[in-house]
Amino acid sequence: MTLEEIRSEIADHQPSGPVGLLSNAEKDLLIERSFLGLYRWYVSRSQKTRNWNPNTDYDWRNMRTDHSEKLNTILEGFFAVEQYVPDYVFKFLQVIRKSYGRSHFHIRWGSEEEKHSDLWENALLFSRFRTPEWIEEYKYALRENEYELPWDNPMHMLFYTVIQERATQVNYLNTGLILTGKHFDPYFANDVDPVLAKGAQAIAIDEAAHYNFFLEGARLYLYYYPAQALEALYDVIKFFAMPAGAIIPGYDKFAEVASAAKIYGPREHITDVLDIALANLGVEGRRALLKGIKRMRLVPTESGEMRDTAGMLDLLDYAGVEKKVQQLFGRVNKFEEQTGHADISPLIFVPSGLS
Ligand SMILES: [Fe+2]
Ligand SMILES: [Fe+2]
Repeated sequence: MTLEEIRSEIADHQPSGPVGLLSNAEKDLLIERSFLGLYRWYVSRSQKTRNWNPNTDYDWRNMRTDHSEKLNTILEGFFAVEQYVPDYVFKFLQVIRKSYGRSHFHIRWGSEEEKHSDLWENALLFSRFRTPEWIEEYKYALRENEYELPWDNPMHMLFYTVIQERATQVNYLNTGLILTGKHFDPYFANDVDPVLAKGAQAIAIDEAAHYNFFLEGARLYLYYYPAQALEALYDVIKFFAMPAGAIIPGYDKFAEVASAAKIYGPREHITDVLDIALANLGVEGRRALLKGIKRMRLVPTESGEMRDTAGMLDLLDYAGVEKKVQQLFGRVNKFEEQTGHADISPLIFVPSGLS
């Protein structure tokens, strides 16, 4: 190889576009390093603040045994959805196994979801709504069906989990209204239950932590890969369905009761899930997203790839996303200064060069 050829080879591998733009390899490294730091921070916080136990932390003998039919249907639905935790973990890990931060986080995530499953099982058992034999049979029937991921790539799954965790949290927060006597519908007036209210609250707090982890991760992609990330978000919103809904026997009844009770239905999905998640992601709104994506699709670069900048800044509050990403780097860095990791390999913010 001549020197000239080597020079041209090197030039070919330089990032294209204006000076200051990061190559994909550099972006990927930054994203991966951020996930690692975020995972370290998350585990520490999870162990310190949310280390509850579904069997020993609750006064199950004092849980009420005379709940309304509709509340029992809702609890049974939660139990069913959380029954697929092994699938959620196993299938998801296959997609993200190459990322240390994401895959290790996911195992921790699974250990928290596993407790949700245990808690709802206790709720069904101690409510006396179902016999232990019935519950065993139902579990068996549920596991006959296998959950499949809605998407087969890490970026789509990241955005999916942002929406899904928020939806789950909304479900549990609204159920908490029934359990604490704050629900609008007098039908549930006799469903106040301090034992279960405590459980629903612990789970809702976990779901908020999950949502935040995925949200931080999603912002990294929106910052470093805005066009691809917005496309993924668009796809996810367009085809969103709650996990396992299609494979749970009797799911329709649960969905109907939950929707009528304003626990979670199409209306809550739009106002309490999508609007909130999009605002947190720095996207200007559902309509703008749909319109912006359409426009973006019309402006590919010469190489046929999506342009990263054009048409993007009016759809995404890019400066806001950058600020949040910087805050994340700062938070991780502060944590890693405490642990000593920052002495050896500090997480340093690098601007995308797109703003
Ligand atoms: Fe959960
Ligand atoms: Fe969760």
